Amino acid sequence: MNQFQGKSFLKELDFTGAELEFLIDFAQHLDDLKAKNIPHEYLKGQNIALLFEKTSTRTRSAFTVAANDLGAHPEFLGKNDIQFGNKESVADTAIVLGSMFDGIEFRGFAQSTVETLAQYSGVPVWNGLTDEWHPTQMIADFMTLKKHFGVLKGTTLTYLGDAKNNVAHSLLITGAMLGVNIHIGAPATRQPEAAVLEKATAIAQTTGSQILVTEDAKLAVKDADALYTDVWVSMGEDVDYGERIKLLLPYQINMGLLKATGKAETIVMHCLPAFHDHQTTIGKEIGEKYGLDALEITDDVFQSQQSVVFEEAHNRMPAIKAIMAATSGHLFF
Ligand code: CP
Ligand code: NVA
Repeated sequence: MNQFQGKSFLKELDFTGAELEFLIDFAQHLDDLKAKNIPHEYLKGQNIALLFEKTSTRTRSAFTVAANDLGAHPEFLGKNDIQFGNKESVADTAIVLGSMFDGIEFRGFAQSTVETLAQYSGVPVWNGLTDEWHPTQMIADFMTLKKHFGVLKGTTLTYLGDAKNNVAHSLLITGAMLGVNIHIGAPATRQPEAAVLEKATAIAQTTGSQILVTEDAKLAVKDADALYTDVWVSMGEDVDYGERIKLLLPYQINMGLLKATGKAETIVMHCLPAFHDHQTTIGKEIGEKYGLDALEITDDVFQSQQSVVFEEAHNRMPAIKAIMAATSGHLFF
């Protein structure tokens, strides 16, 4: 047994900072094992359900590869392929899936859905992103930060842009729990929910993390070890791009703001997908309508030496592997 055994991974606040840092280090260990071709089939013979209400590249791929590497069989269940949410309740679906599968990943809209799956399935449930939180992303992100700076406590991560979304909220809470200083640069209407900020501030007082939320982008980035941004419109949001662009353009990560950190070694992070050129359908539309080459991050920064976005994307896989192995594998720590 270990303290993770049988637990679900629904949100960061269900764990201690030490437990989150353990998972970060375990993820690094599993990444090293894979690089050396050392088998780690901690879920041998298990079956894993991958339930998706929203689209995904990284999370779906990471769960699929991680499950295979751990010796488990992953099964993708898209929302249009199964009865879930249409003809069958979340609770009934949870009971059925839990009677066959050993673990369930869920990505979708409401946090209450992933909580209900955990309540009724009887197996570990892993949150692959909801409107509220993106906890598996956090293990990968802070693993990336730790790899670059050797430590987490005392480093400073600045998040710029839409700070009222799942990723920003998760970064704020997780950073506070790990003793990482979190600076947020965002306009007043897109700053974190008051309840999340209040919780993070209370935690920060116990860990020594410093929280700064400001409308002043230059002040937010000062002394940052990492700059982080996310899309300006999240999946499931029905908002006018024009409005968001007007609000968030001053918070675009560009060379000017990167230099304004005052540190040559600042890394640039993004959970991806990113809007940094015209190569996507939405990109083309936005480019034609608003005459912009990029939204939340400029292409020169995205492609720069300081950008670690693809390393971060890769780290989703060992991070998810660590979460699954710790909660569903029969490991002794
Ligand atoms: N970062 C992330 O969750 O990517 P996907 O939406 O592609 O899974
Ligand atoms: N905030 C983004 C994150 C995507 C990984 C969204 O929810 O669409």
